[in-house]
Amino acid sequence: MDRIHIQGGRPLSGNIPISGAKNAALPLMAASLLMDGPLVLTNAPDLADIATMGALLRQHGLAVDHDKTARTITMSGAATSLEAPYDLVRKMRASVLVLGPLVARFGQARVSLPGGCAIGTRPVDLHLKGLEALGATISLDGGYITATAPKGLVGAKIIFPQVSVGATENLLMAACLAKGTTTLVNAAREPEIADLCACLSAMGAVISGAGTDRITVEGGAPLHAATHAIVPDRIETGTYAIAAAITGGTVLLEGARLEHLGAVARILREAGVEVAEEGGGLRVSRLNGLHGADVMTEPFPGFATDMQAQFMSLMAVAEGASMVTETIFENRFMHVPELTRMGARITIHGASAIVRGVPMLSGAPVMATDLRASVSLILAGLAARGETVVSRVYHLDRGYEHVERKLAAVGAAIERQRG
Ligand code: UD1
Repeated sequence: MDRIHIQGGRPLSGNIPISGAKNAALPLMAASLLMDGPLVLTNAPDLADIATMGALLRQHGLAVDHDKTARTITMSGAATSLEAPYDLVRKMRASVLVLGPLVARFGQARVSLPGGCAIGTRPVDLHLKGLEALGATISLDGGYITATAPKGLVGAKIIFPQVSVGATENLLMAACLAKGTTTLVNAAREPEIADLCACLSAMGAVISGAGTDRITVEGGAPLHAATHAIVPDRIETGTYAIAAAITGGTVLLEGARLEHLGAVARILREAGVEVAEEGGGLRVSRLNGLHGADVMTEPFPGFATDMQAQFMSLMAVAEGASMVTETIFENRFMHVPELTRMGARITIHGASAIVRGVPMLSGAPVMATDLRASVSLILAGLAARGETVVSRVYHLDRGYEHVERKLAAVGAAIERQRG
């Protein structure tokens, strides 16, 4: 298995291009099931999760072409198989996003339950209740969800008891083919949802309220081929912003959007990091000391749970104490024991972690259990004295495009050892 070796202590300097967002690309790819297409997605990242979604759509019968040079993904054709098998779904929870489009278009779908995952139990009840509200009949059997709607779905008002990105996306897509009006109340407001709404609108869907917590879809409009540019990745942006900050460097994040960072930009500034819009991107620098800052993860525009681990690495070397509270996922502190092995002083009390900053971390062999935890260890390694070796980098490859190349290009001593 590949490992990443880092010699810490080099301030980063230069430009980092921000890739298209993984979490936008996955639902956009699933949206291709709603029509014959082609759907052309530009600014597509080259990531393991994108390949997994491509494989899933291919096994449903679509033609999927990922042109890595042109950075486009093209999907066309209608699904011939309505089953999403366990072998693919277990690799990536976002596979459940095919459920809404399949049942809406073909009146039937069978999708493996995603099951538990490293960062918590992550149920799909909100997806299923929403589809039931649109008239689907749902049953669970042998580890599979079966959804049927032989006469098609019918629009409804769906009030989410809790904000869910995936459930909002699944129902948004299904609502495009449902008869009549669907209103999603307490919908997720993440930029990836607005991006999905923009693409669905380009395909001919009639949607209002994109980017707000109340989205209305006038279903049944005929959908057609479209081309859509995937929004830049706000989590990659935040991660490289912390890479600049933790090393006391300055980088220009090309294509990054300030408004998509939500509370992350405010908290970074509070911690002593400069974040400014410049030339169609963001300039991030840290010239003086870092201060502890408290954060609590929340749905957008609150502080993203997908930035929690990276922020904890930054706070590990800040002056003073910080409290990091995770409200979205239970069991999302798996990076803490590894950071502790690098000299961080962190104690966990239920859903909160108290981080007492230390002047310097020390390099160590570490391994991670999920995507964002892995990258938090890379960040810690960039700031640490000596060598850090991160193993199990397949987690990283799910969501960060060419991470070692991008960091090496701005002066980090980082290399991948293939094995
Ligand atoms: C998406 C992101 C993930 C991010 C998360 C929260 C993608 C592919 N993944 O995941 O990176 O960390 O949003 O910003 O976009 N929940 C239920 N029942 C449901 C659905 C969710 O109880 O049916 C709970 C979850 O367990 C969690 C919370 O709701 O506690 C939020 O989850 P959700 O927003 O659905 O996350 P995902 O869409 O899975």
